[in-house]
Amino acid sequence: MRRRRTGARTPRSLVGGAATDTFTVDFDGRAVDALAGQSLAAALWSAGILTWRTTRVSGAPRGVFCGMGSCYDCLLTVNGRPNQRACLTPARPGDTVTTQEGTGRADLAV
Ligand code: FES
Repeated sequence: MRRRRTGARTPRSLVGGAATDTFTVDFDGRAVDALAGQSLAAALWSAGILTWRTTRVSGAPRGVFCGMGSCYDCLLTVNGRPNQRACLTPARPGDTVTTQEGTGRADLAV
């Protein structure tokens, strides 16, 4: 059994950071709290939202997989722009974020 260390350092304590003001982003009509510098993926995770995309063929749910911009599993639509990687896109006050279905280009379907 692993014991928890007391006085463990956190990323914030290592850099001497301080909590900043929160703001909200709109996710599918829901207000989600975010911090300055936080990625959209981190903000969504903090709100308990783990999936925000469906695959093109089977419609399977997707969210973060690699967390570093390599897999493109975390695509979502930000302010009307589809195919934005949530793990790399910083949350900004007033962002409108929506779940992306398939390619995110349903408006171009014929
Ligand atoms: S989680 Fe892999 S690119 Fe974002």
